[in-house]
Amino acid sequence: MGGYILAIDQGTTSSRAIVFDGDMAIKGFGQQEFTQFFPASGWVEHDPEEIWQSVLATARSAIEKAGTSAADIAAIGITNQRETVVVWDRKTGKPLHPAIVWQDRRTSGLCEELKGRALEAAFTEKTGLLLDPYFSGTKLSWLLSNVEGLRARAEVGEVCFGTVDSWLIYKLTAGKAHVTDATNASRTLIYNIGENDWDDELLGILDIPRAMLPEVKDCAADFGVADKSMFGAEIPILGVAGDQQAAVIGNACFEPGMLKSTYGTGCFALLNTGTDRVTSSNRLLTTIAYRLDGVTTYALEGSIFIAGAAVQWLRDELGFIKVASEVGALARQADPKQRLYMVPAFTGLGAPYWDAEARGAIFGLTRSSGPAEFARAALESVAFQTHDLLEAMKKDWQGHGATTVLRVDGGMVASNWTMQRLSDILAAPVDRPELLETTALGAAWLAGSRAGVWPDAKGFSAHWKRDTRFEPEMADDERKTAIAGWQDSVSRCLTRRA
Ligand code: G3P
Repeated sequence: MGGYILAIDQGTTSSRAIVFDGDMAIKGFGQQEFTQFFPASGWVEHDPEEIWQSVLATARSAIEKAGTSAADIAAIGITNQRETVVVWDRKTGKPLHPAIVWQDRRTSGLCEELKGRALEAAFTEKTGLLLDPYFSGTKLSWLLSNVEGLRARAEVGEVCFGTVDSWLIYKLTAGKAHVTDATNASRTLIYNIGENDWDDELLGILDIPRAMLPEVKDCAADFGVADKSMFGAEIPILGVAGDQQAAVIGNACFEPGMLKSTYGTGCFALLNTGTDRVTSSNRLLTTIAYRLDGVTTYALEGSIFIAGAAVQWLRDELGFIKVASEVGALARQADPKQRLYMVPAFTGLGAPYWDAEARGAIFGLTRSSGPAEFARAALESVAFQTHDLLEAMKKDWQGHGATTVLRVDGGMVASNWTMQRLSDILAAPVDRPELLETTALGAAWLAGSRAGVWPDAKGFSAHWKRDTRFEPEMADDERKTAIAGWQDSVSRCLTRRA
């Protein structure tokens, strides 16, 4: 058995698989996009079968490209888009509805109703989350009320609920395991992050039968064994974490005060708060960063729904660029005298505003505003939103200790222009790692360390290497004016004050 690890990174718009060798170097890579369904305004769905097929295909292709075989792979690590809900028939493995994706807003009415019954405090106290359609619980509740016969079947144990990790493990193990990990469970709105168990009171409020829930394990644990029919030899699944938590690990943010921000479809900043469960006074989430050997490490999280998705919008809807990587060069050409602000509230606003009904807008248009100014405004919106999150985090973390330099990862961080602007707006340095596949690396580390073929957290941290540190260059006045303009723009988009 070699020290190879297969990492499966099942994201919102594509499935990726990477084979790492025993030195944590990338040996094989596969990626496949899959279909996004928008069946009604604010609804977003995926086909669970298509997700599964894309995972299987990319994993097989990564193994092949690595020039290795399943027999040499010590373990599989899985990381995934979080909060997305799948329900399937326990016996046949057939999905019983399309997956409802984390971005889906269909339960905003239900969230408002629960808030009206003064229930938000109970959810926050137990789960660290807020009542927003983003999380799995209200989505699952919606399915149980809207798919004929589902609740009755769920009550007698015929139906499985899972986040995407759980669905993939069920498929990989040929239906033998119905499990998840603590980080994915912590995003469901029905998991008590203090007691580390599903919460009966919250299950009662949302009318969700316990019989349909997966068993919750540590992030490095025995999740089951991928069936021989998948890759030609059995491979144990030994690591699982939601993608943002996997990025915390991949960026080696193991100490309290360490901070990372990942720029994928959305942007998610997580601050490791150690074994302290810090409650936010500024509308951030308290969530599980990872649970290892039964010890829970918590994080404060700021979640932004649109980051890279704004670049996709420039490409797909406006046709301003052909490929996403052109956006930095286009933004660089923007007229410095124009001040456009884009508030990308395409699917509402996340932290710290939490306004599900807010919609996007662009302010400051002139007759000469064109693609370059739009591109700059889109990229800057990501920096401004990160600024909002980090300001809220600073307030919540005050008195606990210092934070370290922000570590970044995700597709957007390849753009130097964007990273420089981020550092300018934050007025703080930004560290970009050498290895940008941070999320997959985090999942691989969970599996590799559990298998005993990769180093422990200390050895792994020593392996983390910085590629570039971006230092702020913008004049203070300019920065303050820009931030004030952004805040004014956001306030005009809110349907209500958070
Ligand atoms: O919470 C949603 C998050 O897990 C999605 O991540 O990388 O697909 O933007 P990503």
